[in-house]
Amino acid sequence: MLQINHLYKSYGRFQAVNNLTLHVPKGDLFGFVGPNGAGKTTTIRMVCGLMLPSAGNIVLGGVDALANQKEVKKQIGYVPDFFGVYDNLKVKEYMDFYGSMYRMNSKEIARIADDLLELVNLSDKKEVFVDTLSRGMKQRLCVARALIHNPALLVLDEPNSGLDPRARVEMKELLLNLKSMGKTIVISSHILSELSEMCSSIGIMDHGNLVTAGRIEDVMEGVFGSNQLVITLDGGRETALRIAKEHAKVKVDSAGEHEIRLSHTMTKSEIAKMIGVMIENDVVVTGFHKQEGSLETLFMRVTDNEEGQKGGKENAAESDC
Ligand SMILES: Nc1ncnc2c1ncn2[C@@H]1O[C@H](COP(=O)(O)OP(=O)(O)OP(=O)(O)O)[C@@H](O)[C@H]1O
Ligand SMILES: [Mg+2]
Repeated sequence: MLQINHLYKSYGRFQAVNNLTLHVPKGDLFGFVGPNGAGKTTTIRMVCGLMLPSAGNIVLGGVDALANQKEVKKQIGYVPDFFGVYDNLKVKEYMDFYGSMYRMNSKEIARIADDLLELVNLSDKKEVFVDTLSRGMKQRLCVARALIHNPALLVLDEPNSGLDPRARVEMKELLLNLKSMGKTIVISSHILSELSEMCSSIGIMDHGNLVTAGRIEDVMEGVFGSNQLVITLDGGRETALRIAKEHAKVKVDSAGEHEIRLSHTMTKSEIAKMIGVMIENDVVVTGFHKQEGSLETLFMRVTDNEEGQKGGKENAAESDC
């Protein structure tokens, strides 16, 4: 659906995006993450045709986006990180305004706007002024207006910033709903736990470079390795350690009082056998499971941990519709 090839953007001598190549398949919900200043918004703005790259190309639905901006823009719905405020516009008028920008006729706008407002759960707010809506409602309205022309690709730049937990859950459900309707979605966010719950793929940017990208499981496996095992114990630690260390396919990564972490190349039955040997030798095994890396640990592992680049922005960013 979206193919970015060797994309560069420099602001004067500063390289904000550096040789970025990325593929987002059709129907994917793609999470775009990276520390503040990584180059996410810059990339998003180039994809949405709001800024020209210094070099590289963007192909959307098989069409060269830079050479066919007008055509390609019809395929994109964009929810920016900061919105302009439209005073004295009611929700319905706001949708009319955006629909008319896409040269849709008023009948068409009314029908689609009704459906979209229902989708984002704002049907009862049609006659309400936009600036009186809550932040979560405004964000949902922005998603609705980004969909007015039925784009194939929806791009959202930090749509969850400043939202309370309920509004975030509602936004997540809305995006999953849109994915199930066949939309391809690219979302940038600093709220990694939410991205890991809804995204099928991710890309991590740092200092203008795409550090890693792909299906979340594949990226995790590439960084953490697939075979890590955690054994929890309540006695027999030394015996368990000896058995693990003696096993030809096991390397002990760490050993706490009640927990041993291993890297291994064992099959499932070999794992069961080793745990069995531990139990036969009076180790009190209270549990064992494959170690799963989190998106947070992945993020910390692959991005530069410089001062000033740390921390999420979710509490800092303010946006309005
Ligand atoms: N108009 C501009 N002129 C000069 N530098 C810019 C401009 N816009 C962005 N930059 C710089 O480019 C880099 C990337 O910025 P960008 O907004 O793309 O980052 P981001 O990943 O979206 O960060 P955040 O998570 O804070 O939103 C930053 O160092 C920023 O200061
Ligand atoms: Mg940004």
